[in-house]
Amino acid sequence: MALITYQHADGSTDEIQAAEGISVMRAALTNGVAGIVGECGGQAMCATCHVYVPDQQGLPELSEDEDEMLDCAADERTDQSRLGCQLVCGEHFADLTVRVPQVQV
Ligand code: FES
Repeated sequence: MALITYQHADGSTDEIQAAEGISVMRAALTNGVAGIVGECGGQAMCATCHVYVPDQQGLPELSEDEDEMLDCAADERTDQSRLGCQLVCGEHFADLTVRVPQVQV
C-alpha cells in the first residue's frame, strides 16, 4: 500500500491508501477525490489528471507523451507538473504528495 496525499486549493487534503499498481489518477477517481477527471482512462491522452508534485524524487522522467500532453493542461504548467495516470504506487513511490490544480478542463 502507498499513501497519496492530495492537497486542494482551498487548503483541504485527502489522504488515500492505494494498492500497488494503482495510479495517482485511478486512486483519486475510485475514492471520490475532487479535481481529478481522468477523461482518457490513463492513456496519457487528455491531461485531465494533471497534478503538481513538489518532490519528484524517485519518480520516472517525463516520457515524450507525458511531456506533450502536459502542454495541453487546463491549468498552468510548471516544473512540478505531472500526469497522475503516469505515476504508479509501488512502482514509482511509496508515499507521495500532490497538489490538485484549480481547473482540470
Ligand atoms: Fe488522461 Fe492521464 S487520464 S492523461
